[in-house]
Amino acid sequence: MKKILPSEITPEHVYLSRREFLKSMGVLGASAALLAACGVSPAAENVTTVAGPTPLPPSSNTDELGDPLNSYAEITNYNNYYEFTVDKERVAKLAEGYPTSPWEVKVGGLVNNPKTYSLDDLRKFEIEERIYRLRCVEAWSMVIPWMGFPLSKLLAEVEPKAGAKYVRFETIYDPEGMPGIKKNPWYQWPYIEGLRLDEAMHDLTILATGLYGKDLPPQNGAPVRLVVPWKYGFKSIKSIVRIDLVEEMPTSLWMAAAPNEYGFYANVNPNVDHPRWSQATERRIGELGRRPTLMFNGYEDEVAHLYAGMDLSVNF
Ligand code: MTE
Repeated sequence: MKKILPSEITPEHVYLSRREFLKSMGVLGASAALLAACGVSPAAENVTTVAGPTPLPPSSNTDELGDPLNSYAEITNYNNYYEFTVDKERVAKLAEGYPTSPWEVKVGGLVNNPKTYSLDDLRKFEIEERIYRLRCVEAWSMVIPWMGFPLSKLLAEVEPKAGAKYVRFETIYDPEGMPGIKKNPWYQWPYIEGLRLDEAMHDLTILATGLYGKDLPPQNGAPVRLVVPWKYGFKSIKSIVRIDLVEEMPTSLWMAAAPNEYGFYANVNPNVDHPRWSQATERRIGELGRRPTLMFNGYEDEVAHLYAGMDLSVNF
């Protein structure tokens, strides 16, 4: 497997100056149009789109494996966000205008320096572009140019204590503003997710604040969401309001809902089927046919060592 190239991880100032350069060359609009036409049309999925801002060109038209990025329209109109609706193609419409500013993320638990981060505090982290595959447990996938920063940088600021073994994340709980919460009362809201501390500290694990060079839209988890690219997409919790360092393994919303179907680790694994469907192949949004699922979603070289000695078919 190819390593992630440094050129795919672009600091914001480089990214923005590149953008200014493209603008001055008059090619910004052209390359955005080219991207939209790059064989990543939503035709195969019949994604109905809500008009959004014009996407900005990322540093590359492909991921490090050479696969094309999904279009801005696909990424922002085919979503899982059960707090709004379980219908992927209606999330964008229902989440449109959802207020995500002002916002606070409280970081606490077993830390030396608990801190409440405002949006301005989050904006102080150096923003990088990360082009990652997102593989949903439902066996569809996309390639997404996220903007964000390593979670490890935020955790370093709060200083986890020696007893901290896991990180627990919580989404905003807003039954009045998010219609899916009342419509799906059998889920244990708010949406909770967790990582082992070493997974949370891994450089691939980011807090994303944008995509395609723009702030995240509400349907993708504005203003800040987790992205853990080697795990099934449900680990990548949206619209985070709390992060706690804890001693015990957190129970996620999905573990509470169906423990035999959704485990804590949820590493992408073509050899361990979901009880109701195969995980051997996946449907890349915008493509016809299916492609093989990659172990750890193609990030095996970077993360396999985290699970040395573990039986991943049992610890799913
Ligand atoms: N976070 C919250 N709060 N609620 C959700 O329903 N869905 C998860 C994850 N994060 C979800 C969530 C699932 S199943 C997936 S596949 C990804 O978000 C989808 O992210 P995307 O809509 O940005 O592609």
